[in-house]
Amino acid sequence: MKQSFNPLNQEILVSIGGDLLPRAEAKVSVFDSLVQGGDGCWEGLRLYKGRIFKLSEHLERLRHSALAMGFDSIPSAEAMRGEIQRTLEANHMSDGVHIRLTLSRGIKITSGMDPRLNQEGPLLIVLAEHKTPVYSKGGLTLSTSSLRRFPPDCLDPKIHHNNLLQSIMAKIEANASGADDAILLDMSGFVAETNATNLFLVADNQVHTPRTVACPEGITRATVLELCQTHQIPFQVRDISLAEFHRGDEVFCTGTMGEIAAVTTIDGRQIGNGEVGPLTRQMADLYETCTREGGEPVLS
Ligand SMILES: Cc1ncc(COP(=O)(O)O)c(C=O)c1O
Repeated sequence: MKQSFNPLNQEILVSIGGDLLPRAEAKVSVFDSLVQGGDGCWEGLRLYKGRIFKLSEHLERLRHSALAMGFDSIPSAEAMRGEIQRTLEANHMSDGVHIRLTLSRGIKITSGMDPRLNQEGPLLIVLAEHKTPVYSKGGLTLSTSSLRRFPPDCLDPKIHHNNLLQSIMAKIEANASGADDAILLDMSGFVAETNATNLFLVADNQVHTPRTVACPEGITRATVLELCQTHQIPFQVRDISLAEFHRGDEVFCTGTMGEIAAVTTIDGRQIGNGEVGPLTRQMADLYETCTREGGEPVLS
């Protein structure tokens, strides 16, 4: 979906390396690792009535990414929680907020890719914006991209890094074909995910989702699988081909930014009866209850 500018975000303060800066001054150096090579990792968080859903899981995934990328130091979960709280409170934000939490490898002494050029610690950025879930709840259209998602032997999808070009290229293709988002296959031709979300298929009254060989271990994906377990909804995690998605009864995608959204057309094929299906609706309702009742309080 094409997002638009929300005037509420005109006056926001952004935390960069512990400094709270107005939007227009919230910048990183040209020597920062993010500029030099997309050399950072990030998380998308969502704030519901003063609570961030699955905050510990997001901070742990960020730590895992930074460890895999060999960062010299990583801020503690407590320090990151504190900076998130400070940013939200400075912006008087408590609900309907999306937070982009980025950890750059930091500033380099000269232009180059070598991490030995980084002689100062990582840089934490907390960008909190007023943003309601970004996907239409009425049914999305997907088209399959010509790009493939990397397997772990190319670039491990368990690292949630800032090199988003593969996703951006796929999104350009989706835009050109008039679709909301793109499906990326893995190197064996099985469905990996979309350019921004994990994918689920409903067939034979079961929920199916791809293994995390070529897609991230999505936190919303994990929540959906937990919900299936709790509510005795049969599910399978397996390789799934595109044809299975094309003939699926229901398809939905998951992610913190857009929550759970139905997919009603893939590559010109109508999915099910072309409307949001009952299992998708049930899952979206269950997820809404989780986000309303769960989450970690972050405001004082
Ligand atoms: C490529 C990609 N897939 C899926 C997701 C969904 O993950 P999560 O549910 O943890 O937000 C994300 C979120 O950042 C993503 O970047």
